[in-house]
This record gives sequence, structure tokens and C-alpha cells, in this order.
Amino acid sequence: MTGLGPVPWPPAPIRTQRLLLRESEARDRTAFIELFASPDVHTYLGGPRARDELERAVPEVPGRRPGVFVVDAGGAMVGTVSLDRRDAERPGHVLPDAGEAELGYLLLPGAWGRGYAAEACTAVLDWFARVLPDEPVVLCTQTANARSMRLAQRLGFTEVERFEEFGAEQWFGVRSAATVSG
Ligand SMILES: CC(C)(COP(=O)(O)OP(=O)(O)OC[C@H]1O[C@@H](n2cnc3c(N)ncnc32)[C@H](O)[C@@H]1OP(=O)(O)O)[C@@H](O)C(=O)NCCC(=O)NCCS
Repeated sequence: MTGLGPVPWPPAPIRTQRLLLRESEARDRTAFIELFASPDVHTYLGGPRARDELERAVPEVPGRRPGVFVVDAGGAMVGTVSLDRRDAERPGHVLPDAGEAELGYLLLPGAWGRGYAAEACTAVLDWFARVLPDEPVVLCTQTANARSMRLAQRLGFTEVERFEEFGAEQWFGVRSAATVSG
């Protein structure tokens, strides 16, 4: 993964109806460790990392790079939404030179089932459509990850192809540059 490219970063924090999307801060470190150590969050993402290893390895301010938004609900981090450039070596592309903007989302299990991921991703996709209006956004998720599959469809991603990677069937979809929620 490389940087997002020529986008102003960090943008002003984005407010939605219930959430604030902002750059990470030192006070988010515990929530980042929770996120990386959670078996539920990593069921379809290769498994969690050991908490003691994370305590040593996670920097003072984790997730500080262009494209990573902390999802803040009521003053506390409940997850992240990110946009990264998709590696050319991986399967799944819609642009001739690869490097597509790829959406990722991770919420702490306590925040599932409230529509937070959809609300946060919609706002991030709208931000991206304003700063790089001609670019599609891609998304890759295991077909077994039912919550993620429902979210992808709710966000307006459509299937490009399915393939095997990391020992599982992956769903690869795209949201065209013209899809802006308003
Ligand atoms: C994928 C993930 C972000 C989805 O989270 P989620 O909370 O299910 O997704 P949404 O924000 O779209 O919430 C939708 C659910 O909230 C419910 N909901 C409750 N109140 C709501 C409200 N006010 N507005 C909208 N939806 C609401 C919806 O009915 C829906 O429930 P359903 O899926 O049972 O039908 C989450 O499961 C996760 O973090 N998983 C682990 C990480 C992962 O696998 N990421 C994929 C990487 S590619």
C-alpha cells in the first residue's frame, strides 16, 4: 500500500448525524489495540494479533497516515475507515495501472449493528469524491463475511469478480466515480 496521492491531509474533521471522522490521536491507542486484538474483528482478516505483542509494537499515535479516519462516537473511537492504494501485485483491479483507492473498515464489535459503518463509509466516500472526483473506489472482502458483504452492497459497490486469495473466496467490487450520495 502507498499513500493516497495528491489529497489535502488531514482534512477538517467530518461530522455525520452520529459520528465524527477524524485523524487519530494518542488517546485512541487503547481502542486500536482492542481492534487489532479482537478475534471477532479478525474472523475474516487472517486472525487477531497477540495483545502483548501489540502493546509493544503499536506506536504512541497509531494509524496516522493519509487515508485513515478514526470513527468517533460520543467522544470515543469505535473503529476506523480507510482508503489505501491497492497493490498492483494483488488480484482484482479496475484501472490499467492498478493502484486503485480501496476502502477498508473495522469496527469494534460493540459498535456493530447500529449502522455506524455505513454512516462512516458514506461520509468518507463523499469526501473522496470531492477531493479526487474522477476516481472509482474498490473494495475486497471475503464472501463468507456476511456483515461486510451487506455493507458493500448498501454502499453501492457492485461485483467485478470473485477470486481465491488467502485460502478463501474473495468478493471484489467497485463503486463508480459518479456515485456520490449527496
Ligand atoms: C464489516 C462491519 C464494519 C459491518 O458492521 P455493521 O455494524 O454490521 O454495518 P452497518 O453499519 O452497515 O450496520 C448495519 C446493521 O445495523 C442495523 N442498524 C441498527 N440501527 C441502525 C441505524 N440507525 N441506521 C442504519 N442501520 C442500523 C442495520 O439494520 C444492520 O443490521 P443487519 O446487518 O443485521 O441487517 C463490521 O462487522 C466489522 O467491523 N467487521 C470486522 C472487520 C471486517 O471484517 N472488515 C471487512 C474488511 S474488508
